[in-house]
Amino acid sequence: MEQELTRIGVSLPENLLEKFDEIITKRGYSSRSEGIRDAIRSYIRYYAWMSEVEGERAGTISMVYDHSQRGLVNSLLDVEHEFSSIIRSSLHIHISHDMCMEVLLVMGEGKEVKKVAEKIMTLRGVKHVKLTTIIPGEEI
Ligand code: NI
Repeated sequence: MEQELTRIGVSLPENLLEKFDEIITKRGYSSRSEGIRDAIRSYIRYYAWMSEVEGERAGTISMVYDHSQRGLVNSLLDVEHEFSSIIRSSLHIHISHDMCMEVLLVMGEGKEVKKVAEKIMTLRGVKHVKLTTIIPGEEI
């Protein structure tokens, strides 16, 4: 059944909107609203998947961030130290003057793994965070 639609106003950085418009044009969406609805559905699905992450897990948390964002590097280090028992290793490359890419290799209770990813996602200056996990012993 067709749901009633609610209008919302959203403020976005211009380059983010340009990038989004480019993608929805390429993918053939008939309107920006349709693209946004689809993006929100993906976001909801991703979080639904994340909420099911529990039990022993091994995985990666990859992220891209702007290291010139005030306080961000310290906040990231705080998170990494707080969860040092599950963050087993990390890789870091400097991808441009300001941007860094980092991958954390994690193993431990899924709920804790998820907590690390969620904490990082909320930090200002973090542009992209992706969590992937496997269940040790069920690698097939
Ligand atoms: Ni760097």
